[in-house]
Amino acid sequence: MTNTAKKFYDATAKLYDSRHDNDTARYLRKRENKMIKKYARGKVIDIGCGTGCHLDAERTGIDISYNMLMECKSCKNLIQSRAEELPVKTSVFNTAICMFSTLNLCDADKATEEMNRILRNNGIAIISVSSVRGGEKKTKNMRIEGFRMKINTFTKKELIDLFRKNGFESLEFHGMFKSQKPYWGWYRNFSLCEKIKLFLDKLPPSSRGRMYIAAFRKL
Ligand SMILES: C[S@@+](CC[C@H](N)C(=O)[O-])C[C@H]1O[C@@H](n2cnc3c(N)ncnc32)[C@H](O)[C@@H]1O
Repeated sequence: MTNTAKKFYDATAKLYDSRHDNDTARYLRKRENKMIKKYARGKVIDIGCGTGCHLDAERTGIDISYNMLMECKSCKNLIQSRAEELPVKTSVFNTAICMFSTLNLCDADKATEEMNRILRNNGIAIISVSSVRGGEKKTKNMRIEGFRMKINTFTKKELIDLFRKNGFESLEFHGMFKSQKPYWGWYRNFSLCEKIKLFLDKLPPSSRGRMYIAAFRKL
């Protein structure tokens, strides 16, 4: 699971920022930034930080993709690592950010356990994930630009249960994008074949491009 995500982001890192320069992503970032402003404090780590849109000089960024980290301009505290095995001491951070689908791509259970380990008591985890559950499956296989990706999907209950199980309480939880139209915009660079496949997948309109944003507190 992880290796394909790494290969995908290594291959597309230079395109990442321009791909997300659109109204949908701006709307999402606005919601994320509002949540970060409300809850982030003290020492902050961004897990799956990508090109670093939530980083600044003080924060620490971790990502599995070296090429994504190379695109980070705002921060020098960068570590290439898997979210499931963070090379970080126990109980050192006050806030863990994990935004924009990183939990969809990694072993979400291990990554959440790790978040708990590195956070101090009462530390905050702020996350946003895609909710691409079109049918029944918890893991979807999607071919994205030639890369076969395994994508974890979550219902609201599953996400809250995941964090509870790993020692967090839920502070705030929202669905996003209901009235947005991100779907085809996101996939405009896909081949015709891939577009047809996505169309045939027929995600119900309610889950198209839907995302969750949430804040949890370590107990
Ligand atoms: C959609 S991008 C989001 C990047 C950033 N958080 C943002 O908000 O723009 C997902 C990121 O998760 C990273 N990623 C995927 N699997 C990972 C893993 N197991 N451990 C750490 N990072 C991972 C990818 O390399 C990629 O940078």
